[in-house]
Amino acid sequence: MNRPTILTGDRTTGPLHIGHYAGSLANRLRYQDSHDQFLLLADTQALTDNAHDPEKVRRSVIEVALDYLAVGIDPGRTTICLQSHLPALAELSMLYLNFVTVARLERNPTIKDEIRARGFGRDIPAGFLCYPAAQAADITAFRATVVPVGEDQAPLIEQTNEIVRRINAMTDRAVLPEARAIIPRTGRLPGIDGKAKMSKSGGNAIALSASPETIRNAVRAMFTDPNHLRVEDPGRIEGNVVFTYLDAFDPHPGGLAELKARYQRGGLGDSKIKARLEAILQELLAPIRARRAQLSEDRGYVLDVIRDGTERARERTEATRRDVVNALGLFQL
Ligand code: TRP
Repeated sequence: MNRPTILTGDRTTGPLHIGHYAGSLANRLRYQDSHDQFLLLADTQALTDNAHDPEKVRRSVIEVALDYLAVGIDPGRTTICLQSHLPALAELSMLYLNFVTVARLERNPTIKDEIRARGFGRDIPAGFLCYPAAQAADITAFRATVVPVGEDQAPLIEQTNEIVRRINAMTDRAVLPEARAIIPRTGRLPGIDGKAKMSKSGGNAIALSASPETIRNAVRAMFTDPNHLRVEDPGRIEGNVVFTYLDAFDPHPGGLAELKARYQRGGLGDSKIKARLEAILQELLAPIRARRAQLSEDRGYVLDVIRDGTERARERTEATRRDVVNALGLFQL
């Protein structure tokens, strides 16, 4: 049985939120049966913009692993592994840096956005600027052909494929496969304040582990249509965070379409649409929160899952490293 390989992952900078769920976790759950799936706890990549706080990066490894397991990632079908413990990834990164220019890295739209968001100015950590080459190493080391990620990651997959094509052309062999990004149709979820990006550091996210009260308060505080002052007024759907989230999470598209029409006509208050969204989110997150609480009591189990997965990933990534070194024709001892 030849199933396509998936590699994807998350920086370990804190617990995951519902944006991650809509953006990639839901897809990863679906792929468990049809693909050979690897999930990378990307702690070395997390360090590229968190070198001042390695303690956070370390602590978050378990948090992200707990989130994976709590949403239903099954370690029997998906391999969860730890980036810093896979030396082949670091070695491939060094090799790939010779197949990408600084100018190309600086032009990467994801990198440009992130540099702006982090306020690096001219003081960009070199590791950060170069992480697209490291991410190319992650993807190719597993020989992944499918990468389910949020839409912000698409330029990284493009840059991965450029490196792959360059190495294949240089060595005149298909040493590495190209990969395809799978991006959810809902696009990236905005923060509850309507700001472009949901992020833990922005304080505008709903964590997968959020308590029922936190969920309730977050939905109540959610940005809607600032001109929708009275219930009778027509309301706007576009840019209205409640409807954006309903689009992502409402399991009844028919009912939602009707709700939107009523809101646009006028006569439907924000409290009604918020009540619907809150009920949906409470129902989605209650079982995740319960499983997470249970798993966090058993740290030994979570560590075993990461250890076993990393062991399996080590063999696979090491084999690719050898192939690339051979193809490049480096000296053999
Ligand atoms: N860049 C991803 C993030 O910001 C994490 C990541 C690291 C990743 N390596 C990857 C995603 C490989 C997909 C494939 O969370």
